[in-house]
Amino acid sequence: MTKKVIIIGATSGIGKSLAKYYAQHEYEVGITGRRSGLLTEIARELPDSKFFAAEMDVAQAQSAIEILNDLVEKMGGVDIIVINAGVGFPKANLEQELQTVDVNARGFLALAHWSYQHFKLKGKGKLVGISSVAAVRSSPYSPEYHATKAFMASYLEGLRLRSKKWKDGVDVIEIRPGYVDTDMTKGQKGMFWVATPEKAAKQIFKAVDANKSVAYITRRYRLIGLLVSILPEWLLAKVL
Ligand SMILES: NC(=O)c1ccc[n+]([C@@H]2O[C@H](COP(=O)([O-])OP(=O)(O)OC[C@H]3O[C@@H](n4cnc5c(N)ncnc54)[C@H](OP(=O)(O)O)[C@@H]3O)[C@@H](O)[C@H]2O)c1
Repeated sequence: MTKKVIIIGATSGIGKSLAKYYAQHEYEVGITGRRSGLLTEIARELPDSKFFAAEMDVAQAQSAIEILNDLVEKMGGVDIIVINAGVGFPKANLEQELQTVDVNARGFLALAHWSYQHFKLKGKGKLVGISSVAAVRSSPYSPEYHATKAFMASYLEGLRLRSKKWKDGVDVIEIRPGYVDTDMTKGQKGMFWVATPEKAAKQIFKAVDANKSVAYITRRYRLIGLLVSILPEWLLAKVL
């Protein structure tokens, strides 16, 4: 039977590449985002693939859940849900910091909660969250972004523990990208080991397929994760 995946936040960057990668691997793909024109464009780029598109604003948590529910019904079920939608602002003001929490934390939680319940009722399924290496430690530049990614990491770990403890049958996977060349990182200085969205998508696909609990993208970012996790705060303040 054809496998089905939904990518939340698939209009650009990592999500768009991931949607195309799944489509090229014979999956039926559900894609969401606020920019509905781009959703149609993606479906047009791969005419032989089966895409289902839905306009969704993750910051509107309750309506986002309803749209996800409708999309799953329209697709006749789903095997994998990837929550990729996220925002990050350079030198955010208070309004932007609150927006970061609304999308990356509050909206994420609502969709992850619904997805977990859906898969638990089914007895199987994969819930994937795209967090970041930023989940490991904070930074002086965008503490709100790091805080929301740490929130994602902790919430996903909790769901993974829950599934193991009560044998709910839900695989919960956290993806931690390092730098990827997308709209979000455009013009950002000091980036290293920058991956293309296509390379990131390929590695995410493999990590999900292999049921990794936590996967760094690209893989060598595991080293950075380890390094920043052991640095004392005084040294972190110097090197960042
Ligand atoms: N690029 C990196 O170096 C990097 C590193 C670590 C982690 N990440 C994470 O990877 C994920 C994807 O980011 P990206 O780099 O690919 O950036 P991107 O090109 O800006 O993509 C962000 C995606 O999230 C969607 N999105 C944002 N706000 C939304 C909202 N309120 N409702 C629904 N969808 C929303 C966007 O769709 P619409 O605008 O159409 O709504 C878009 O499809 C994010 O969670 C980001 O934090 C990126």
